[in-house]
Amino acid sequence: MTMLGPILAQIAEEMAALPESGVSADYILELARIDPDQFAIAVVTADGQTFTAGLSDTAFTIQSVSKVFALALSLGHVGDALWQRVGVEPSGQRFDSILQLEQERGRPRNPFINAGAIVVTDTLLDGCVPREALGGMLRFVREAAEDDSILIDPAVAKSEIATGARNFALAHYMKSHGNLVHAPELVLGTYFHQCAIEMNVVQLARAGRFLASLPDVPQLVSPERVRRINALMVTCGHYDGSGDFAFRVGLPGKSGVGGGILAIAPGRASIAVWSPGLNVYGNSLRGTVALERLAALTGWSVF
Ligand code: DON
Repeated sequence: MTMLGPILAQIAEEMAALPESGVSADYILELARIDPDQFAIAVVTADGQTFTAGLSDTAFTIQSVSKVFALALSLGHVGDALWQRVGVEPSGQRFDSILQLEQERGRPRNPFINAGAIVVTDTLLDGCVPREALGGMLRFVREAAEDDSILIDPAVAKSEIATGARNFALAHYMKSHGNLVHAPELVLGTYFHQCAIEMNVVQLARAGRFLASLPDVPQLVSPERVRRINALMVTCGHYDGSGDFAFRVGLPGKSGVGGGILAIAPGRASIAVWSPGLNVYGNSLRGTVALERLAALTGWSVF
């Protein structure tokens, strides 16, 4: 797509002119002080080209986008046994909701809400300590992106541990139902550091290539699993805003409260956007609008 450069430049210009940018995540102090107006986009296409606009060198913590990589790794470790502990249905609730956990006896609806992601991280601790599990996670994203410079921001992880009471509540509640094998402190220490993996949009778009089944990229996951992960991204990747995202953008996507979104155009491109201001669902406001524009201008919707 030779027109992608100008299309991304146009989208970045439009985002800068939007009257609203949303509010940076306020419950993690290190994120609350980040300027919500910032914007970046990167697209890696099937022919191996990378197109960018905006602050494409600026790193941000990927937060819940990490749940996609953790899921891919976990399925490699425990296979389909994971689905006995986590469901595959949209929750229709906020990402950190506790409501359904009691009704559904400690089994989270899907692997992308916080409760589900905590169970996924629990599986990554089988037979190893948190440092090793995080090492495995970093190795996975570095291999996916073919970029060894990807790191974890320890200040953001520490900041989240300090205010993570709700995630501790979710973990302890699941433990009471026998759906957490390891100690909540260990699981959450690992989970918060996984969320604090730092990337810029180019690194994130490159890390997502395996989900777009692009040619000549490290194929880290079987085609069957890639299809299932994409299906979950469509139905659950934006929490209670997943319907809105599918309606407006029409691509599998996963958001994070750091303002990043990874979107997949199967066979065509891996796309990352970043803008820290969030909408009512806790997903990037300008990032969502930018992807809506990109899908409209390229015709890449899967529907
Ligand atoms: O656990 C949390 O609350 C954060 N580390 C991640 C949540 C998140 O990114 C939700 N996505 N929009």
